[in-house]
Amino acid sequence: MKIKTKASLLSFFWLISILLPLTFIIYYLYAQYEKEEEMEILQFTANQILTHISPLELLQEDNNPMLRTYLPDYSMIRSLDLSSKVINQAANTSELAVIPPKHIDTQESYSQKLNDQTVMIVRTPIRQGTEIIGTLEIVTEPIELDQSLYRLIGIIGIVTLAAMLISLSASFLLSKLLFLPLSRMIQTMKEIEMSLAIKKLPLNRKSKDELYQLSETFNHLMERIEISMKKQRQFISDASHEFKTSLTIIEGYTSLIRRWGFENTDLHMEALNAVHDESKRMKHITYQLLELAELEHEERLTLCVFDLVTLCKESIQLLQPLSNKEFMLISSGSDMMIEADRLQMKQVILIILDNAMKYMKHRTYIYLSKTDSNHCIRFVDDGIGIPTEELPFVFERFYRVDRSRSRQTGGSGLGLAIAKCIVNLHKGTIQISNAPHYGTEVIVTIPICKTSNPF
Ligand SMILES: Nc1ncnc2c1ncn2[C@@H]1O[C@H](COP(=O)(O)OP(=O)(O)OP(=O)(O)O)[C@@H](O)[C@H]1O
Ligand SMILES: [Mg+2]
Repeated sequence: MKIKTKASLLSFFWLISILLPLTFIIYYLYAQYEKEEEMEILQFTANQILTHISPLELLQEDNNPMLRTYLPDYSMIRSLDLSSKVINQAANTSELAVIPPKHIDTQESYSQKLNDQTVMIVRTPIRQGTEIIGTLEIVTEPIELDQSLYRLIGIIGIVTLAAMLISLSASFLLSKLLFLPLSRMIQTMKEIEMSLAIKKLPLNRKSKDELYQLSETFNHLMERIEISMKKQRQFISDASHEFKTSLTIIEGYTSLIRRWGFENTDLHMEALNAVHDESKRMKHITYQLLELAELEHEERLTLCVFDLVTLCKESIQLLQPLSNKEFMLISSGSDMMIEADRLQMKQVILIILDNAMKYMKHRTYIYLSKTDSNHCIRFVDDGIGIPTEELPFVFERFYRVDRSRSRQTGGSGLGLAIAKCIVNLHKGTIQISNAPHYGTEVIVTIPICKTSNPF
């Protein structure tokens, strides 16, 4: 069952459960009040008779016409002696005569059923001074009261039915209006599922209710999926482009050898070197891509406490033999303890130093410092720098400032993307800028973990 049908049925049953007992109570109270009123009228009539007709006249035979003057519609008036014998009787309906006469000593009034019809009976003692000498009995069939109660039942029934119909249609209409954005959302989702195309929901800016918020969140989600899909497409096209270039080179050289054979040793050597270089490049890219994928999906860090100064020295020692340029480490203290993933931090340092090594002229400075909240590593090289307009993109995958130059330097444009990913996992920051009148400056900050770091 649809949620809107459920909601309207629920509100409908809720209304009925309130309306029905309420109408029943109204009817019951009204009927009770009317019966009491009718009974009081009979009582009043009995008192009138006792005031205007003397007790002896009442108990004197053949005085029926006297009683008739007080006779209400559909009623019977009787005077009884002490033995319950009827002395006088006046009636305008014969049905009531079957009610057995009864002498009483104290006044009584009640209603009872007679042939499925309610009759009301009032009995009052007839007194001669203080002595009771008989009973005055008035019996009536409250036809008008019954008719007015039937009318009331009819009116209540019609009103209840109308209220139920109005409530049912109103609740259906209301829930349709309320759930319209939800239906639209389902429709849009179905369309997305069918076509796999990104679609957004129209927003009704007038009402900022929960459904509006849901639609807005859905649209944000769609925007993010769209961005992520675009990035993925870009990534796949970039990655395939990288491999395509290498594969074209390999294919070119192998066809050359197939055509010219192995006689030309120079060509043979050149082809072998090219195939070897491109295979190495592809291997490097594949490793980097795998690493990126792992970093993005696993998001796990093996935290330990270690000395950042030692880690930087180790990284410099690894790279120094590959270059005749100089790396200068400058730190405020002899050691700087940090809690982080040691292997991954080493990777970040190597990525940045590798870039510096490719582009620096003479030396690169590595400054280590610490604030209350962060550890900071600042790399400043004296290289060619990065054009300011290119700076925002260098952390994107496969982004290289000068593609032909990077191919010569062997870069694939993944290093800084990996570094950013690792720094983000440590909840730190990485910024790249042009060092004024110098080369490139990269600043990495890693927050100090206050709970677990004792240093
Ligand atoms: N210190 C630097 N000096 C000048 N340009 C730099 C420097 N560091 C990075 N760049 C530029 O930013 C680009 C992206 O760097 P990144 O490390 O991501 O890729 P890469 O070095 O080309 O390849 P690899 O994936 O092998 O690291 C580089 O291609 C280079 O053009
Ligand atoms: Mg690099």
